[in-house]
Order: sequence, then C-alpha cells, then structure tokens
Amino acid sequence: MFKRKPLHKIVQEADDNVHGLRRALGAVNLVSLGIGVIVGAGIFVVTGTAAAKHAGPAIMLSFVLSGVACAFAGLCYAELASMIPISGSAYTYAYATMGEFVAWIIGWDLILEYLFGAATVAVGWSGYVVSFLRDLGIQLAPQWAAATGTQVTTASGATVTAYANIPAMLVVAVLTALLIIGIRESAGFNNLIVVVKLSVIVLFIAFGFYFVKTANWHPFIPPNTGEVGHFGWTGILRGAGVIFFAYIGFDCVSTAAQEAKNPKRDMPIGILGSLGVCTVLYILVALVMTGMVSYTQLNVDAPVATAVDAAGSQLNWLKPLVKFGAIAGLTSVVLVLLLGQSRVFFSMSNDGLLPPVFSRVHPRFKTPYLTTLVTGLVAMAVAGAFPMDLLGELVSIGTLLAFVIVCVAVWVLRRRHPEFPRAFRTPWVPFVATMGAGLALLQMYFLPRDTWLRLVIWMAVGFVIFFAYSRRHSKLRREQSHAPEPQSGGRTP
Ligand code: ALA
Repeated sequence: MFKRKPLHKIVQEADDNVHGLRRALGAVNLVSLGIGVIVGAGIFVVTGTAAAKHAGPAIMLSFVLSGVACAFAGLCYAELASMIPISGSAYTYAYATMGEFVAWIIGWDLILEYLFGAATVAVGWSGYVVSFLRDLGIQLAPQWAAATGTQVTTASGATVTAYANIPAMLVVAVLTALLIIGIRESAGFNNLIVVVKLSVIVLFIAFGFYFVKTANWHPFIPPNTGEVGHFGWTGILRGAGVIFFAYIGFDCVSTAAQEAKNPKRDMPIGILGSLGVCTVLYILVALVMTGMVSYTQLNVDAPVATAVDAAGSQLNWLKPLVKFGAIAGLTSVVLVLLLGQSRVFFSMSNDGLLPPVFSRVHPRFKTPYLTTLVTGLVAMAVAGAFPMDLLGELVSIGTLLAFVIVCVAVWVLRRRHPEFPRAFRTPWVPFVATMGAGLALLQMYFLPRDTWLRLVIWMAVGFVIFFAYSRRHSKLRREQSHAPEPQSGGRTP
C-alpha cells in the first residue's frame, strides 16, 4: 500500500509523452486557464455575503489573508508541477512521495474539488442565467431550474417541488463536448471568456471607483457583535475561510502539464501568474464594492450588480455587462474544472488504479475522450440534483486536503531527492511548506462538522473501491511483483 512510483519513471513518461496528449499550451494559455478557473462564483456571488455577514469593508483584509495562505500552497504546487509535469497533479506527487494508498486517497479527494466544483459552479451559472433571461422578459419554469426535491415558487405564486436543474446540466453537457473536441479549441474558448470577464472586472473597478463614498468604509472593521466570526477580527478570519472558494482552481493549471509545450518553465508561470493577477483584482473589487454600497446591503446573490445599482442611473450601462461577465466567468470555471478532473482520472487509469477506458485517447482529437465523457455525465447528474451550498463546502474541504498533501510532498522530496532537477524552487522550505499545510489544516478545522462527516463518508467509499479494484489492478504492483530482486530493479522501495 505504501509502494511509491519511482520519480525518474514518472518524469520519463512525461518527457516521452507516452500517453499521446497534444502539447498545445504556452505560458499565456496557462495563465489564462488559471484566471479562467479562479474568477467565478467566489468574487461574483460569495464576496457580498461574506462582507454582509462576517467582515464588513474589511472583507478586503480577508482577501489578503486567504491570498497569502493560497500563495504558500501555490509556491509548493509550482515546484512540483515544474518538477513532475504530469496531468495527475497532487495525485501523482503523492504517488512519488507517500505511496499508492495516499495517492489514491488524494486522487479520490480531488473529485470533490474538480468534479463537485464544476457541478457547484454550474448551479451558480444556472442562477445567473435564469435572472439574466428574466431581465430580458423570458421566464423559465422554476421547477426545471432548481435542485431535485427543493420547493420553488412559480410565477403564479404556487409552491411546487423542483425536478432538476436543467440549465446547470446543459452547460456541463456543452462544455464536455468542447473538451472532447480538443485542448486547443477549449483553451481558445477559455481565452475569449477570460478577456470578457477581466474587461468587466476592470470596468467595474475603474468606473465604480468614482462612485465610492468613503463613509461606507467607516467603520472599516465593524465591531464584533459578541459572537465569534461576526465582525471584528474573528469576522475577518471567518470571512477569509468563506471567500477561500474564490481562490480555488489555481492548482488546476497543474493538471494541464502534459498538454503544455514547455511545462518545466511554464507551469510556475501559469500557477503563480494567475494567482497573483486574481489576488490583486479581488482586493480591488472588494474595496470598490464596499465603498459603493454599505456592506449591510450586500447579502444578495449578485453583489457586484447591487453595487452598480447603488451608483444610480449613470452606471446603468454597466449593469447588463456585469451579469454577462459573471455568466461568462462562471462558464470558464466549469470548463477548466472539468478539464482538471478528466486529467486526474486519466493519470489514475494510466497507473491501473482506474479501468483502462479512462485513459483512452481519441485518435484524432488527442483528448482523453472517454474519461471526459464520464466526468461530464457524473457532473451533469450532480449539478442537476444538488443545491449549491452543500456542494460548495465539500469542494473547499477537498481542496484544502489536497493542499496539505502537496505542501508535505515538497518537503519530503527535498529530503529524499535533493539531486533531482527543479526548474522552480519553492523559497524558504520548510517554512513555506509548513505554513501552507498548517493554514490549510486550520481552515479545514473551521469548516462545519457536517462537511467533515461527508468527507469521511466519501473517503470510506474510496477505500472500498481501492481494496476492491485499484489495489489488484495497480500497474506498479504488477511490475514490481514481476521484477527481479532490487539490485537490478533500480526502483524506489
Ligand atoms: N474559484 C472558483 C470560483 O470562484 C471556483 O468560482
């Protein structure tokens, strides 16, 4: 269970491109993929609630804190992604450092981040589209645009039970088709969306700035209400935990390593570049938003639009653009998270831990089409049936667990393989790695107990599959059981 995949073998597989994916992505595409997946529901939806309920105008400080915590993890991802440029990301790093079982755990855990993340954001996308269509006078029947079994109110005022969230399912279906057609096409579409959403955010910051009323920033840190997490310094900390969702995704860039032209150089640029750009934008959006409107009015689904509303008729032209930008933004988040999930499954299948269909590459499109299809179908089912808040917390806990493993892996590999070439070196190891793992653990600790319970159940299902299938089909295990004795094997024990 603790057999490790030899590092030289993993890197050789990546260098030789034995798996046949198309190397089409340069540094700009990778930064764009990162921005594509990071900027989404977090900034367009969650920021307002976090300001209204936890931090007030000081939500800007929550963004700084969460950004710093992510930077520690991002620096660790950058080293490993440039050193082991393979699409399995955290799963493969764990295979090389902590062995097959931990690798499986983290591969299984990444489903929570990528697949459930895609479904969560697809549900958010559906909410924005329904409201955008309503503005245009088109009313969708609410029972077809909400999680299965939830109670919704129709236009006539009747309360009915929803069947499924069809718009959320549709967006997943269309993006899955695009991902199957090609990485170049998917990256091109993502680039277009990134231009749209960045333009909308920059317009909001630039024009919104003129409508800031500094009175809205006083008090900058509203006094604590007497309850932990409700304003004051504990509110800033709670706010940081809540808006962590807005940063999720930078690590997803590392799953495109086998489709990057020069992964050793460009992976760190993609991961750290996108994280840096988004951190700066988030802090500015938070400042402008809470300056335009009192934080007490921001507990809404579309806080950026609420801030624009507060500016009055002069910014009327920006309102539809904000909604359009949010819809575009959420689309690319779903796209890149689906991409990440299919690449992790692909790597797990190449190692024999999942059935071989998951690693079949399409002869013409050069994409792992069957794993993309399976990922898309499952994400569609989840997006159609479940509400957003339940999914969102699972996504956060899954992501944080992956961060812990990656930060530990950097340190372990530094000790075990100091000689191995590293195109990018995380500075101040072990300090940065310890901070990255420690802060991720701390944020996990503060998540609700229910979320922990769901994580444990999810992992229990994973254990059953590991012992029933993966352990028996592991390629590493089979190779090692057929290999001669260690002196000629050259493998890590
Ligand atoms: N960071 C992504 C978002 O905010 C997941 O939608």
